[in-house]
Amino acid sequence: MSSNIVVAIDGYSSCGKSTLAKALAKQLHFIYVDSGAMYRAVTLYLLRKNIDLKDPAAVEAVLPEVHLNFHARDYQTHILLNDEEVSDEIRLMPVSENVSAVAAIRSVRHEMVKQQQRMGRSKNIVMDGRDIGTTVFPNAQVKLFMTADPKVRAERRFKELQPNNPDITLEEVFENLAHRDYLDTTRAESPLIRAEDAIILDNTNLTPEQQLQFALDKVEPFLKG
Ligand code: DC
Repeated sequence: MSSNIVVAIDGYSSCGKSTLAKALAKQLHFIYVDSGAMYRAVTLYLLRKNIDLKDPAAVEAVLPEVHLNFHARDYQTHILLNDEEVSDEIRLMPVSENVSAVAAIRSVRHEMVKQQQRMGRSKNIVMDGRDIGTTVFPNAQVKLFMTADPKVRAERRFKELQPNNPDITLEEVFENLAHRDYLDTTRAESPLIRAEDAIILDNTNLTPEQQLQFALDKVEPFLKG
């Protein structure tokens, strides 16, 4: 039995999962893994190759060509797609608009889950996503499920996206989030759902520092020495 600690952070899009996950990993000197970035990088590859996202067999056929790696640097997401850094490109609208469809494909999920489980096998990690506490690490020591008011989430995402997407409107962002929530919670393959033993963290009115303290308090009992 390995005794590494896994902190699983799940929840809706733009709930502040990655902000908290990064801060927590930094504070604890754990490895941070952004599982959403992996689905985004696969999506980018498929879009570049003009693969029909509605054709699961076509998607599955090219999956072996996709090699993902993380650069561990300053607890930010630095993801390499076949050795190319794509951390910025995966945040642009073409990927954001298509990633839910890709994340619903069974073969993609199987491959991502396998890779994610490998990453958490022997190291202390904080991983954020949608199915981390339910499917990827059902035995994680700490599971958080994050939620926030949908309007607040849209405003946060808008601020994030605006610098790279100057024409975007708040309404578009709100619609995109609502649509993704719908797809993420209703898909057949491991839909977004709170693990029974996950602790709910509604951060609508919490500062990043308060959220970090909340999470640290949950992890504390598992830290040795
Ligand atoms: O967290 P994010 O917005 O970067 O995630 C991008 C998409 O990937 C989102 O639509 C949900 C999906 N996703 C998933 O299905 N499972 C995960 N573990 C992480 C993300």
